[in-house]
Amino acid sequence: MKHFIAPSLLAADFSNLKKDVEMINNSEADWFHLDIMDGVFVPNISFGIPVLESIKPLAQKPFDVHLMIVQPERYIEPFKKAGADLFNVHYEASPHLHRTVQSVHAADMKAGVTLNPHTPVSVLEDIIAELDLVLLMSVNPGFGGQKFIKNTFNKVEQLKELVLRKNSRALIQVDGGVDNTNAAELVKKGADVLVAGSYVFKSPNPQDTIKGLKELEF
Ligand code: DX5
Ligand code: ZN
Repeated sequence: MKHFIAPSLLAADFSNLKKDVEMINNSEADWFHLDIMDGVFVPNISFGIPVLESIKPLAQKPFDVHLMIVQPERYIEPFKKAGADLFNVHYEASPHLHRTVQSVHAADMKAGVTLNPHTPVSVLEDIIAELDLVLLMSVNPGFGGQKFIKNTFNKVEQLKELVLRKNSRALIQVDGGVDNTNAAELVKKGADVLVAGSYVFKSPNPQDTIKGLKELEF
């Protein structure tokens, strides 16, 4: 499978979101990555359901919703209604992860689980078979524009081994500090989906930058 690119709207121009949504529509990007932060699970507040509702009618690609919030299971239905296609919860915020994954599937969304940089891949042994995606954070969640943590390369390899061993369909996603210095190696080691915020939106030509991430040279 060719890898997917999911630009993170956290780095978009919030005073003109429509323009950036259309830029992604017309680019080689595969998904919209939407970072929901509650100021409790992470030390920052981003945007929420009303913003998703207002851009959903404009967006022509799936919504990959990354929930950096406590008790994410309380918001399964509201995010489904707002247009989420993939509902991705943090392992560290979900004491009843298996039940949450079941509820996400019952709401007819794909289920993802995210691991913080310090959380080992091995905690997913008994849930990986149920998941559609695992997101490995390559920065500490909460802010865009941070430096990529290199240990993520090892975690991608470990996760790939786990996915194959358990015959799981889960895609491997990496988020945080992704750019042209690490993207090719991440995909070579097994990443299926790359999230990129600052690298895309702060570049002179975001569509070309997305194209570059899509057409990596190995
Ligand atoms: C961080 C978010 C990321 C962020 C990535 O908590 O989950 O999706 O937007 O931004 P960059 O690519 O700038 O690190
Ligand atoms: Zn994210």
